[in-house]
Order: sequence, then structure tokens, then C-alpha cells
Amino acid sequence: SHIRRGLLSSASCRSPRLLNSARLAPSLSYQSIAGMKVLAVLYSGGEAAQQEPRLLGTTENQLGIREWLEKKGHEFIVTDDKEGPNSVFQKNIVDAEVLITTPFHPGYLTRDLIDKAKNLKICITAGVGSDHIDLNAAVEKGIEVLEVSGSNVVSVAEHVIMSILLLVRNFVPAHEMIERGDWQVSEIARAAYDLEGKVVGTIGAGRIGYRVLQRLVPFNCKELLYYDYAALPEEAAKAVNARRIEDLKEFVSKCDVVTVNCPLHEGTRGLVNEELLKHFKKGAWLVNTARGAICDKDAVAAALKSGQLFGYSGDVWNVQPAPKDHPWRTMKNPLGGGNGMVPHYSGTTLDAQARYAAGTKSILENYLENKPQEPQNIIVGKKGYETKAYGQR
Ligand code: NAI
Repeated sequence: SHIRRGLLSSASCRSPRLLNSARLAPSLSYQSIAGMKVLAVLYSGGEAAQQEPRLLGTTENQLGIREWLEKKGHEFIVTDDKEGPNSVFQKNIVDAEVLITTPFHPGYLTRDLIDKAKNLKICITAGVGSDHIDLNAAVEKGIEVLEVSGSNVVSVAEHVIMSILLLVRNFVPAHEMIERGDWQVSEIARAAYDLEGKVVGTIGAGRIGYRVLQRLVPFNCKELLYYDYAALPEEAAKAVNARRIEDLKEFVSKCDVVTVNCPLHEGTRGLVNEELLKHFKKGAWLVNTARGAICDKDAVAAALKSGQLFGYSGDVWNVQPAPKDHPWRTMKNPLGGGNGMVPHYSGTTLDAQARYAAGTKSILENYLENKPQEPQNIIVGKKGYETKAYGQR
């Protein structure tokens, strides 16, 4: 499958090729689709984006493609205004031909909006993860959905390792104590452990999940486990010494640390819920950088409060931006720690932005020139789902 093929090739290996193809592409044959409307929903970068041009995924820096698109005679509308019928996004979707979105500030393309989007041919996700698009509706309407596969998988895998460590080692309360001016080692050490000797398991062992397993190898964990309906190729599983567990309840009951690395789709929405959390080891740590809605918001907050979970960390939320009163912002374990939540940024490091901006341009270029798309980038193709990662269909 595409996933399995992409598993071992590193994102950073991919980027030079993407950059080159973007740079060297001929600038001739755009006549086929003249004057189309390209709509992009990105996050506003404010002052930071003015000071830092490498923040390419922002409304200010516009993925670095405005000049290029306009020279070809296309209209390029960029906005962060995405909610409600009067938003720039929803007003312009009716006649846009290309929609570019980013998971970091998702323009939610619902079935309703797809019905209204009379000209829409292709959705490009600047990044990885296209659950903010109603993929089934896109399939029915023959709208292609592509993402820049692999562009930020190392970025996320590194964040996962950091998140596991900060929970297991009780880092956040330790730092907060120092900022407060206090110094009480025992208060921190009573909830701090080594990662060595623990059982760590990933839900989803695709590009990110596998890279997490690879990065865990030197920590000498007791065992590395994975739960995925697609088995890893034998040699890949052997290289990281990971064992597959096919029953989810059994899987979570064996893990000290669970990390979630599967896409959000019908089969994973609310997967980690009140019932499944009962099967976790008491005091387990849970890291979710995949999608917020894979974990039930209230069940996670309750499990952390009761100590059933001892920590929860990640960067993804069921709604983004998360409301000010979202329980995940402030939830704590019984000792007042165990929260490693941050805004959605693990896959949007400056390194990642260079790769997904170049990849977005390359997908657009292929579309404009009627060239085949790279197979690993196609989520929904002209004839329906091309990837198996969004559910077994
Ligand atoms: P991938 O397609 O390479 O791997 C996904 C894996 O999940 C596949 O092996 C698939 O079989 C498995 N899977 C699907 N449904 C499953 C289920 N019900 N149970 C167990 N396994 C299941 O995707 P990749 O590149 O590893 O990305 C995974 C997800 O991570 C993305 O879909 C996205 O939601 C998230 N992500 C988050 C980022 C962030 O900034 N926080 C950035 C990039 C991706």
C-alpha cells in the first residue's frame, strides 16, 4: 500500500526533490486552466510572520506562492476567517476551483459546503491529515483530496518523544515550580520515572508511528507494541523489535505509555473513550498528537483527574482554535501535574513549513499541468479513496 511504501523513506529525504521540482518546473502550460480561483485558509501569523518569512503557512506569507500563481493569471484568496456563512472561507468556496487548507487552523469543509462548492475540483492539505474535509462527500462529488505526505512526520515523531519524556519525568510541574520561586525536589521526584523499562505502544504504526518506534529503540524500553489494522512489514517490525497486538483492549492494558498516531476517521473518532480508558493500566500516560477527536475530551479529563491516567500530552484538540475554557488546557492529575498540552504546532516547525509549502506548490503544479500526482499524496483520487489509512473500506 502507499502507506507501507512511504514508511521507511524519511521526510527530510523527500524535501530536496520537492524543492527542486518546484523550482525547475516549466512555467509554460497553464493555459488549460486560465484564471481559476484558488482559496487558501491558513492561520494568521501576526507580528511573528512579518518578522519571520519562514513562517510560510501563515496568511501573511501565503506558502510563498502568491506571485507565482498571479503571474499565471490566477486569483489567490488567502484568509484565516473560516467560521460561519459570512466568513471569507465560506463565501468564496462557492466558486473556488482549488482549496488549500492546513490542519493547524482547519477550514472545515463539511458536506453542506461541498454541496455549495460548484467549481471545486481539488483540495490540497498543506501538511498531513485531511479529516477536516468530509472525505466521503468529496468522493461522491469527484473532488480530489491530496496532502503533502511525509512532510512533517519527523517533526511530529520528535514531538511525541518529547511529550512522552516530559510526562514520564514530570517535567512541566518541575519547571513551573522553578518559575514560582519554589524548590522542593521531593514534590517532583515523587511522580518522576525513567522511560527505560516501560512498555510503550502506538495506535497506528504508519509514517509517524513507525518513526516514534524507531526513536524509542535507544531508550531500552521493556517492550514496544503497536496496534494497527495493517501489520508492519516483517523486516520493519524486526528492526525496531515491535510486537503487534490485535485487540485494542488487550493492547492498552499492557502499555505504560500509549501514543496515538492514526488518522481521524469514522473508525477512530472517540476511540479512546470512557470504556477503553478503564482498560488502561492505572496511572498510564497518554500522548496524542494525531487528532483531538480520537480521544473523548471529557473522558480524558475525568481519567486524569481520578488518576486512572497519570498524564496526557499532545497538540491536537477536538476544535481548533480550542476555546478558552477547554478542559484540556487546565486539567491535572491528583498531584497537580500530568498536563503537557500545547497549541497545534508539532507538525509546523520551520523545517516542516519549508517542506509542506514546497509540496503544496508541487501538487498545484501537477494539477495545473495535468500531470499525474505522486501516489503517496493522494487521499481521494479521481475514482475515490486511494489510501487505506482513512479506514478499511
Ligand atoms: P500514515 O497514513 O502514514 O499512517 C497512519 C496509520 O494509521 C496507518 O498505518 C493506518 O493503517 C493506521 N490506522 C488507520 N486507522 C486505524 C485504526 N482504526 N486503528 C489503528 N491504526 C489505524 O499517516 P501519518 O503520516 O503517520 O500520520 C498519521 C496522522 O497524524 C495524520 O493522519 C494526522 O492526523 C496526524 N498528524 C498530526 C500532525 C500534527 O502536527 N500534530 C502533523 C502530521 C500528522
